[in-house]
Amino acid sequence: MVYSRILGTGSYLPKRVVTNDELAQTVDTNDEWIVTRTGIRSRHISDAEETSSYMGYHASLRALEAAQLKAEDLDMIIVATTTPDKGLPNTACLLQDRLGVTYIPAFDITAACAGFVYALSVADQYIRTGMIKTILIVGVDVLSAVTNWADRSTCVLFGDGAGAAILQASDKPGILSTVLRADGRQKDSLYIPSLLPGQRKAEELPYIHMNGREVFKFAVRALEKIVEEILADNGLSQDAIDWLIPHQANLRIITAIAEKLNLSMDKVVTSVEKYANTSAASVPIAMDEAIRDGRIKRGQTLLLEAIGGGFMWGAALLVY
Ligand code: UT7
Repeated sequence: MVYSRILGTGSYLPKRVVTNDELAQTVDTNDEWIVTRTGIRSRHISDAEETSSYMGYHASLRALEAAQLKAEDLDMIIVATTTPDKGLPNTACLLQDRLGVTYIPAFDITAACAGFVYALSVADQYIRTGMIKTILIVGVDVLSAVTNWADRSTCVLFGDGAGAAILQASDKPGILSTVLRADGRQKDSLYIPSLLPGQRKAEELPYIHMNGREVFKFAVRALEKIVEEILADNGLSQDAIDWLIPHQANLRIITAIAEKLNLSMDKVVTSVEKYANTSAASVPIAMDEAIRDGRIKRGQTLLLEAIGGGFMWGAALLVY
C-alpha cells in the first residue's frame, strides 16, 4: 500500500504585525469586540514585496529544509491561493521559478480557505496511484489586498501568510483519507467580485463581501458533519485523534467543532489569536507551528478541516 507522508512543513508570516488597538484607530471597533466575537488579537499584513509567490517561497524553503530535501527532488508543485501574484502565469509557476527548478508540473487550486485541504487531497491521489513521488503543496493568501479597510465587519478578520508541506510516497501510514465538498448555491454568502475591471459592476468594490452570520452557521454545521463522516469512513472514533488542526477563522467555530467531537481544547491547535484568518494558509501555518514547537509528534493522528467561499470545505485524516 502506498501512502502520502508529510516529510516536512514550513511557514512564513509577514513582518508587519497589526494589533486590534491599531485597527481601532481607523475603524469603529475595539479589542474587546474582536476578541469576544472571534478570538483574534493580532494579524500579520504583507508589504508590497510579500506577495503570494514570495511568502510561498519562504515557507517552501523551510519545508524543504525540514524534509531534508532540495528543490530538485520535487516532482510537482501545487499552490492553493485565491490571491495570485498575477492573472497569468499562476503562482505555482512563479514559485517554481523562485525555487530554481524547471519542467515539473506546477498548478494552482482556487478553493479559498479550504485550499490547503483540497491541495492535500489532490496531491494524495497522485502519490497513491504511483504517478508522482514527491509533491510540494503550499497554502498562501494575501487577503489584505482584497480587504475593504473601511469595513469593520470584515477588516478585523483577516491576515496574510503562507504554509507549506512536502508529501512523499511511503509504505508507512500517512494520509489515511480526505473528504472534499462544495455547495455553489452559497456563492453569494462570501465572495470577491471579479478582479477584471470590465467584468465587474461599476458599484461593486473589488473586496471580500461576507454575510458573517450565514457563513458562521453554515461553517459549524458543515464542519461538524464532515469530521464525523471522515472518522466513520475510517472506522475510528474521536479518541483516535491526537490533534485537531482546524481552519483558523473564528475561535467560536473552532470551539463548537471541538465540543461536537468531545475533544478537549488542549488537543486543538489554534493560531487564530495571533494570525487571524489567513485563508488557504491557516491550516498549514497552525500545523507547522505545532510540529516545530514539539506538540505534534511522529506517529500521531491529525484531523485537518477547513471551509471557505464557494462554499468549499474538506477534511483530512493523517498519521504524521
Ligand atoms: O473562512 C471562512 C470565512 N469566514 C468565517 O468563518 C467568518 C464567520 N463569521 C463570523 O466569524 C462572525 O459572524 C463574525 C465575527 C464575522 C461576526 O460576529 P457575529 O457575532 O455574527 O456579529 P454580527 O455580524 O451579528 O454583528 C453584531 C454587531 C452588529 O451591530 P448591531 O447590528 O447588533 O448593532 C455589527 O454592526 O456587531 C457589529 N459589528 C462590530 N462592532 C465592533 C460588526 N463588526 C464589528 C466590529 N467591531 N469589527
